[in-house]
Amino acid sequence: MKRAVWILAFIVGLAVWSSGTVWANGGPHGDYTATTDACAGCHRAHTAQGPRLLTSPSTYDLCMSCHGSAGTGADTNVADGYFLSTRSSSTIGETNTLDNAPLLGGGFVNYDGAAVTSTHDVTGTVTAAWGNGVDRGQTGNLAEGLDCASCHNPHGSTNYRILQTTVNNVTVQVTDYDPGPNKDYDTENWTTAELSSFCAACHQSYHETAAGTGSDPTALTYGGGFTHRVDMPFSYDGNANPETTGLGGFTLPLADNGATADQLVVCTTCHLPHGTSAQMTGFANGVGPAGDSALLRLDNRGVCQVCHQK
Ligand code: HEC
Ligand code: HEC
Ligand code: HEC
Ligand code: HEC
Ligand code: HEC
Ligand code: HEC
Repeated sequence: MKRAVWILAFIVGLAVWSSGTVWANGGPHGDYTATTDACAGCHRAHTAQGPRLLTSPSTYDLCMSCHGSAGTGADTNVADGYFLSTRSSSTIGETNTLDNAPLLGGGFVNYDGAAVTSTHDVTGTVTAAWGNGVDRGQTGNLAEGLDCASCHNPHGSTNYRILQTTVNNVTVQVTDYDPGPNKDYDTENWTTAELSSFCAACHQSYHETAAGTGSDPTALTYGGGFTHRVDMPFSYDGNANPETTGLGGFTLPLADNGATADQLVVCTTCHLPHGTSAQMTGFANGVGPAGDSALLRLDNRGVCQVCHQK
């Protein structure tokens, strides 16, 4: 069975290779030739269905036509948060990603087999982003509604996972440490604190990086009261490495390249960028809207316990 998949992957790979396409960005996202067919996958010159001459009524619908539950154009099913290696003709990521592996970004409709309890709202509605500007809280409105293209560039990008190089008018760099064009969709390939800077393009005042921001008001760069520090090494009170050993067997990903010195706590150590099905009860429920899980990776305050082990 495995051998058959390999042979199929080889044949498809050969077809892709012989057509001269280089898939550095993955799928129809960039590396276009002078006579590419790719534009027609997403745009119509005269008979478009949505703004920006899109073949679908909205950017969300367009992305989900390939990446959604019923999509057959990509293996990454971001609606349900799974990698499904056999559902599309794309072979990208198949050598490095297990079939049915939960996706690194989470899910927009379901995740880990359960309905989501919070997501980034990618329907294109204009909303205030938490900490957009100085002061935390849900303050400044974004210039445009949030959708998939607020964070990803459909035409490819030099950044990891085709993340936009300009987000909310802020220039961001997130180096791509993927294993070449053969992507790995079940191993975090962020090795520096750059991913926090990406989140900070919209949530600036959550990005406090100095020691003591939880207790020392003079350590804060932005207002909004005390906040948990980010972009620092995980070590606290000599506790075990949260990436390998956490309370209850749970672990959290750090931004690291394997070297101990680089194991940094970034926004995505605690949060998923797409959506999560974590459950909030008791004190953890109602910090935001009732039941809302603030994109957290674990139920209630499981994330705190992985590191602090109280
Ligand atoms: C995977 C789908 C996809 C493919 C393939 C694609 N586009 Fe787009 N394109 C989009 C989306 C989505 C937007 C709207 C982005 C936004 O809202 O910021 C867009 C916006 C645009 C825009 C207006 C904004 C800008 O970036 O300048 C132009 C022009 C454009 N595309 C041209 C092209 C051309 C030419 C090709 C082929 C070389 C192409 N696109 C291939 C999805 C795609
Ligand atoms: C708030 C920013 C943001 C929005 C909005 C967003 N993404 Fe992502 N997406 C990310 C980040 C960050 C990653 C990388 C996750 C990782 O590797 O840990 C990612 C990863 C991905 C991946 C790779 C698979 C995975 O889960 O790691 C795909 C495919 C993807 N996004 C598609 C989409 C689509 C389609 C939409 C809209 C329905 C969307 N994204 C909306 C930030 C975003
Ligand atoms: C015509 C089908 C198609 C459409 C439409 C499409 N994608 Fe993709 N996308 C793919 C394929 C194929 C891949 C390669 C990985 C896979 O098989 O899932 C991919 C990969 C990606 C990745 C991962 C890139 C990386 O570096 O690994 C992101 C992020 C992504 N798409 C976002 C989007 C967003 C956002 C939209 C809507 C603007 C979109 N896609 C629309 C087919 C599509
Ligand atoms: C990935 C590991 C990690 C996670 C998860 C984590 N912490 Fe921490 N925490 C740290 C580190 C490291 C420090 C030391 C920060 C510094 O150098 O100022 C710290 C500091 C603190 C402090 C002291 C702040 C000060 O400045 O006095 C408190 C209180 C705290 N964390 C509570 C929490 C709570 C509550 C959660 C869950 C919401 C949490 N932590 C999640 C690693 C973590
Ligand atoms: C140590 C874990 C941890 C890290 C790291 C972390 N967060 Fe959070 N975040 C939480 C928890 C827990 C909540 C739920 C509300 C609370 O307890 O304050 C939350 C809530 C949020 C919210 C929802 C609004 C709110 O304040 O309740 C936003 C936005 C947010 N975080 C953004 C970020 C950004 C951006 C970063 C990186 C700069 C980041 N977070 C880093 C744990 C973390
Ligand atoms: C393009 C702007 C943008 C980027 C980039 C962005 N966010 Fe957000 N985020 C928003 C907006 C707008 C909201 C409020 C509306 C919503 O929930 O979608 C939000 C809401 C949130 C929430 C609260 C969700 C809830 O339902 O409680 C968290 C947590 C959060 N973001 C974390 C992050 C993290 C972590 C990153 C980086 C991986 C990130 N954001 C990147 C715009 C952004």
